[in-house]
Amino acid sequence: MCIFFCCFANARSSLVIVVISQLYHRKQSVFGRLIRFIGSPLSGIIVYMINRKWSSGKEIVDAIGYYEQKIYGENEIELARPISQNQLNGARLFNSKYEYAKTLNKNISYLEIGVGWGYSAQMFINETNAVSADLVDFYDNASGVRHPGGETPEDSSITHEQYIKNKFSYHPNVNTIQGDATYVITTLEKKYDLILLDIGRERFMMRKLIQDSSELTNVGGVIGLTSYVNYDSIMYEGHVGIYQSVNEFLYFNKNWSVDAIVLHELGLHDIYIKRNS
Ligand SMILES: C[S@@+](CC[C@H](N)C(=O)[O-])C[C@H]1O[C@@H](n2cnc3c(N)ncnc32)[C@H](O)[C@@H]1O
Repeated sequence: MCIFFCCFANARSSLVIVVISQLYHRKQSVFGRLIRFIGSPLSGIIVYMINRKWSSGKEIVDAIGYYEQKIYGENEIELARPISQNQLNGARLFNSKYEYAKTLNKNISYLEIGVGWGYSAQMFINETNAVSADLVDFYDNASGVRHPGGETPEDSSITHEQYIKNKFSYHPNVNTIQGDATYVITTLEKKYDLILLDIGRERFMMRKLIQDSSELTNVGGVIGLTSYVNYDSIMYEGHVGIYQSVNEFLYFNKNWSVDAIVLHELGLHDIYIKRNS
């Protein structure tokens, strides 16, 4: 007797195909008679559908509509919309933000949403010789959020915002904007060549932030998002909706494409998406 089990787990279902071959030919076997009874066209193949759950872990659920706000439970994972191959063909891969920054145009206008202690801002501003930068943050000492691997400044005699002002005092056109970035971004009127989004992970907040940022992006400009891929969900305890929100945006906005993926040593990989028209 020979029995093969084949398992296919995909979005729609998990298929368990049990192939019972030689039983078919054993007329004396109860199973053999059962299989013969089922007969062609399956001829010895029982197809058994189970639900869309892995043997353990989260249940795979459909991507939500672009205007839908359905919150899935922590025991579920939303299927991300696929990025079309066309939107990936020009994508490049980098080992750090710095390597990516070196390839960007010079004299850009820069916007960062979630500045922290200004590590990325400093690097992008300097590498691109940015003509201007708007740096938005709560400026509340980064809510205890450190840039992974970065130091928290030791000088507590100045405010967080003042620390950033001092850091960029050499530059004539760097502005700090204090407030909730999800609101601030709706009030900005400038256009930018590079916008870095680095304030959170929540699915609908990120969806709105990407949409709002896209309105502020010059043609040829880029939006960068940290934590697009979260290896082991490091630093976060709940859902990370950045992947789904970015893919959804690209799915519904075909004039955008992936410019780069930047790998991060803690697995918080960035994505940079480009507006082509
Ligand atoms: C991870 S840190 C940013 C690190 C920085 N982008 C870098 O690469 O050096 C996140 C920052 O976002 C800020 N932040 C979080 N939510 C925010 C919101 N809704 N509005 C403004 N700032 C926010 C926090 O205060 C914190 O300074």
